Amino acid sequence: MFNLTSISSLIAIIATSIYFLSSSLPHKSSYHSLFISTSLSSNESISNHLYSLTLRPHIAGSEANAEAAKYVLSTLTSYNIPSHTAPYYTALTYPVSRSLTLKTPPTPDPPIEFNLQQEVYEGDPYADVANLVQPTFHAYAKSGTAVGPVVYVNYGRVEDYETLKEMGVNVSEGGNVALARYGKIYRGDIVENAYAAGVIGVVIFTDRKDYGGTDKWFPDEKWMPPSGVQVGTVYNGAGDPTTPGWASTEECERLSDDEVEKAGDVPLIPSLPISWADGDVIIRSIDGQVGNDDWQGGKDAPVYRVGPGPGIVNLTYQGKQVISTIENVIGIIEGAEEPDRYVILGNHRDAWTFGAVDPNSGTACLLEVAERMSKLQKKGWKPRRTIIFCNWDAEEYGLVGSTEWVEENRQMLASRVVAYLNVDIAVAGAGFEASATPQLDELLIQAAKQVLDPDNSSQTIYDSWINSTKNPIIGRLGGGGSDYAAFVQHIGVPAADITFGGGYPVYHSMYDDFIWMKKFGDPMFQRHVAVTSIWGLVALKLADEDILPFNYLSYAVELQKSAEDLKGEVLNRGVNLVPLLKSINELEKAAVKINDERKALEGSRGWTSMSKNDKKVRELNDRLMMAERAFTDREGLPGRSWYKHLIYAPSKHNDYGSKSFPGIDDAVEKAKSLNTADSWHSVQHEIWRVSRVITQASLCLKGELT
Ligand SMILES: *[C@@H]1O[C@H](CO)[C@@H](O)[C@H](O)[C@H]1NC(C)=O
Ligand SMILES: *[C@@H]1O[C@H](CO)[C@@H](O)[C@H](O)[C@H]1NC(C)=O
Ligand SMILES: *[C@@H]1O[C@H](CO)[C@@H](O)[C@H](O)[C@H]1NC(C)=O
Ligand SMILES: *[C@@H]1O[C@H](CO)[C@@H](O)[C@H](O)[C@H]1NC(C)=O
Ligand SMILES: *[C@@H]1O[C@H](CO)[C@@H](O)[C@H](O)[C@H]1NC(C)=O
Repeated sequence: MFNLTSISSLIAIIATSIYFLSSSLPHKSSYHSLFISTSLSSNESISNHLYSLTLRPHIAGSEANAEAAKYVLSTLTSYNIPSHTAPYYTALTYPVSRSLTLKTPPTPDPPIEFNLQQEVYEGDPYADVANLVQPTFHAYAKSGTAVGPVVYVNYGRVEDYETLKEMGVNVSEGGNVALARYGKIYRGDIVENAYAAGVIGVVIFTDRKDYGGTDKWFPDEKWMPPSGVQVGTVYNGAGDPTTPGWASTEECERLSDDEVEKAGDVPLIPSLPISWADGDVIIRSIDGQVGNDDWQGGKDAPVYRVGPGPGIVNLTYQGKQVISTIENVIGIIEGAEEPDRYVILGNHRDAWTFGAVDPNSGTACLLEVAERMSKLQKKGWKPRRTIIFCNWDAEEYGLVGSTEWVEENRQMLASRVVAYLNVDIAVAGAGFEASATPQLDELLIQAAKQVLDPDNSSQTIYDSWINSTKNPIIGRLGGGGSDYAAFVQHIGVPAADITFGGGYPVYHSMYDDFIWMKKFGDPMFQRHVAVTSIWGLVALKLADEDILPFNYLSYAVELQKSAEDLKGEVLNRGVNLVPLLKSINELEKAAVKINDERKALEGSRGWTSMSKNDKKVRELNDRLMMAERAFTDREGLPGRSWYKHLIYAPSKHNDYGSKSFPGIDDAVEKAKSLNTADSWHSVQHEIWRVSRVITQASLCLKGELT
């Protein structure tokens, strides 16, 4: 039966096919079809790469990770892709000693001493290298001791501390240690919020409710075992903290420890991550008021009370900071017609432990994209633009490898990169997810319509993507979650980030290994094949199509939505949104205009070679490429000047959260708490700044001087 939606999707399909026929030379698109065909894809070789990359734990700065870099370098080289290593010398931290004890007055029992060990299970094939896993810790945690009554703070969000205040609990009184659970926000913000609330240390546990399943766990089920711990960084910046804004080359300028602390992105109180088994013991030592329903644990959990105390913990952590060599591996397929235009594919290699899901599922796919492209080259394909493979190091510590490289090559990248395509975790389970700067939305949708769903070959990834939502949900790249951050937020490059499966229970624990992937993440490695196909296909379209497949109309629509959201926030505050709304209108007009220009150019060259239009095409493409740069501002966000992009940046209290208009948002938050004329005036100033960058983008798209 035909209903309105199916007719409109039919029209969309026809329109897409016409677009395809007209926008890329037939032989280019036949290479693209070949790229995603079963004849080039191999789940076996992806599985082999993943197996080889995850034989040993390979934290950044370790010998095992240098070994993994060699593997990536030699694999790319074996595909005849010229490759090299870009090393940096970065300040990374490692644990030296840790201890955690719990006393429960008034009982006279001796304190419980937690062993803080993730346990090897019977038959674990990685048992003999388990000792190479670093003791559980938080990278860049403050060294020191915190002794005090425990106060339970739920997920450690700003609103959780508000709730405690409403309950009459003064967390800053008498030197308390916070017990928070992992889950809703970035762990660095859990520590920062705790510090701001006035506690003296933080213990973060994995709650069984969120990661532990029922009564079975890995290796029998996908869930986190009782002793499993989510390790991770608690740094709130991007890149080496001792070289903010410049590259960590061998003999570069570095900030002192004091200067780093003053910069405000490293924690000022100690913290430790712990397992759900240990979290359960500590929770039982806390008395006082019962937490709200959304503060409680799962089935079989004790009642969660907020305290403080009577349980008293002694959290002691000693770390060391070492200038460690890290290595990005860079492989380059030079473009035949526009070698100075770059399409970059990036994924990191370093892992907290074995890293089968995070990040080497992505590394295995990166190598597979490279191999398939090398096969296309053998058949005569030459990309129009240059394709660059980047395998980053030290992402886990704070996006260090990618940030240092972007900082070092800033000028070249800002003038030449067409788009950056990130895959961190390629596969954690079923279900395609994507985030992008909005001019890439249409391209992602097109690619998703061409690749089959690995979990149901009678439909495409697109069909399953829209199963529950009708319209595909595309996230935005304001968050600090992975290596796209420096590209988008520091230099304004269009970018996308894709994955299958979202969150997974053994995240950042010792159990993220090949066995987990094989049993639960992707038993047939067909999801990896699908990520390879869609990632590579998007890259091929960006590298080969004469006119860049960007649509800025989506950007205007997104900005309109964000402006709508803002309206409610500033209602009756004497704030004028007209400049913002006007600039967005202009952007919409400019997007329509450049889309028309594209059509005219495509029409004029018909089915013949476009060579006589080369200069016009190049000029149009430059406008499409540079419009994203226009959203950046030299001064950056107030108080966070590394973040230059005024449209997308991390949310201030959750680095994982993506914010639109972050500068306006920060100013609104401040104004709401101060409620002074000055503070609302700052909101207006930020609105003007955003309006001006949007206007810059419109001028760039129009290609006209005023
Ligand atoms: C909480 O305790 C601190 C430290 O004792 C004190 O300075 C502050 O005024 C208290 N806050 C409230 C709301 O009682
Ligand atoms: C806390 O633990 C550390 C390390 O075990 C120990 O040196 C210190 O004396 C303890 N502090 C207190 C007050 O018990
Ligand atoms: C697989 O896709 C077909 C065609 O869209 C659909 O009818 C079927 O329900 C899907 N199967 C599952 C298990 O999702
Ligand atoms: C749609 O999603 C539901 C639940 O997520 C699933 O059971 C169903 O099989 C899906 N259908 C298709 C066609 O993929
Ligand atoms: C590759 O896929 C085929 C077909 O789905 C499957 O039989 C095979 O076991 C898979 N190989 C690996 C290594 O997963």
